[in-house]
Amino acid sequence: SIPRRVEIVEVGPRDGLQNEAGILSVDVKAEFIEVLAHSGLTRIEAGSFVSPAAAPQMATTRELLQRLGPRSGLRLSVLVPNLRGLSDALAAGATEIAVFAASTESFSKHNINCSIAESLERFSQVIAEAKRHGIRARGYVSCVLGCPYEGRVEPRQAAAVARALHDMGCGEISLGDTIGVGTPLAARALIETVAGDIGLQNLAVHFHDTYGQALANIFACLEAGVSVIDSSVGGLGGCPYAPGASGNVATENVIYMLNGMGVETGVDLGLLLEAGDLVARRLGRAPSSAVARAFASS
Ligand code: HMG
Ligand code: MG
Repeated sequence: SIPRRVEIVEVGPRDGLQNEAGILSVDVKAEFIEVLAHSGLTRIEAGSFVSPAAAPQMATTRELLQRLGPRSGLRLSVLVPNLRGLSDALAAGATEIAVFAASTESFSKHNINCSIAESLERFSQVIAEAKRHGIRARGYVSCVLGCPYEGRVEPRQAAAVARALHDMGCGEISLGDTIGVGTPLAARALIETVAGDIGLQNLAVHFHDTYGQALANIFACLEAGVSVIDSSVGGLGGCPYAPGASGNVATENVIYMLNGMGVETGVDLGLLLEAGDLVARRLGRAPSSAVARAFASS
């Protein structure tokens, strides 16, 4: 049965924007996050402390966190790839971080320039240090259902990395279909495999919508008992190291589906659409998700 309440992790300001060539100012990003929070979202991924060469749009994450400051009722998190990223994040006042490992060696190499084993060794140091500072850590596993370089990925491959991140102390594991190739039965089989290892309660799912499968995959994962969903308002997004990957599943499409099924999220769809409008205008385009277009024309 479907969970009665689902937690949305809004990744638009990070995953949504990281691949956008037009750099938004710190003011605009802060306004974007404020409008998202106003819609009722309580978890927002604000940016990343990665090499500015890897993701130029994320280079102002420090200023952004400083501008936003601590907010009650809002969990802001940032991506960190190594100890350097963690210490920069801590200095900027971050209270929640995420590390990101891959299911395949090729994606790991392209994305963070090291093997899976090297990345896990690095992340265990990052997580230990984060814990010492009392901050929460999430672990991503990318390419869980397919890899741009290696093709099909077996559930066991993704599950092994999820288990390693869980064992080193990541409180939540987000399973990423980075290039959006998954389909519902494969998604469900993956959840069953990973949940068999580390339990359902700390699992999140992160779908990109490249092949239009994201909502169907999310529904399959909800049926399997997952209750944390990553999404990006307006369906923004893409990964610089995942050729052909399109945006994340649009938050408004997820909220519309959950509202229709009577699942609580605490998010107001009308206010969320305003956040989507705002960021689309700032990027110089029209909101493109199905739900945004349907409301705009009704
Ligand atoms: P490297 O070249 O192996 O690292 O990159 P290095 O230690 O040799 O450093 C190279 C340069 O980066 C140096 O600068 C360092 O100072 C700098 P230089 O001397 O050349 O001027 N550097 C840093 N700068 C700022 N912050 C840092 C940092 N570390 C080193 N933390 C590295 C390795 C991991 C740094 C690089 O590959 C990197 O930044 N990768 C991140 C790529 C990225 O952001 N990808 C997108 C996010 S993952 C994703 O989107 C998937 C996800 O959404 C889930 C899904 O969809 O499935 C999460
Ligand atoms: Mg992603």
